[in-house]
Amino acid sequence: MKKPEIINLPKFEDPRGNLSFIEEFKHIPFKIERVYWIYDVPGGQVRGGHAFKKQQEFIVALSGSFDVVVDDGTIKQTFSLNRSYYGLYIPAGYWRQMQNFSTNSVAIVLSSTEFDENDYIRDYLDFLKSKKNV
Ligand code: TYD
Repeated sequence: MKKPEIINLPKFEDPRGNLSFIEEFKHIPFKIERVYWIYDVPGGQVRGGHAFKKQQEFIVALSGSFDVVVDDGTIKQTFSLNRSYYGLYIPAGYWRQMQNFSTNSVAIVLSSTEFDENDYIRDYLDFLKSKKNV
């Protein structure tokens, strides 16, 4: 089974300002079908408490910082994202939650699928059942 991992992106440091980029299949292991972003998150709010059956994703903190808690049904791992030159790859089948958003943080999410509500597992017990842990 694929595992969540931090992937470092190319970074062109320049006195005029730095530049990073992502190419599908080269820096991330999937074709990008959708891009969305989360912004204007009020302090203390939590987003994304769910899993996906098929969707893989790659999350970058384009601005500010936040934590992503990734759970395989047995072990929870917390990844802190706070630079725009790396991101977190999350394979399908992990419960994930985003929290501790700093003021003015922006999370960009690259997704391997178009939006499909049927791909969500929104109930944690259903998620555990899908992992056959209960
Ligand atoms: P959702 O993924 O449930 O947000 P979170 O889990 O981070 O709280 O999405 C919130 C709403 O936005 C939900 O009603 C579906 C809608 N949505 C789309 O229509 N298209 C998208 O690409 C995404 C990510 C969400």
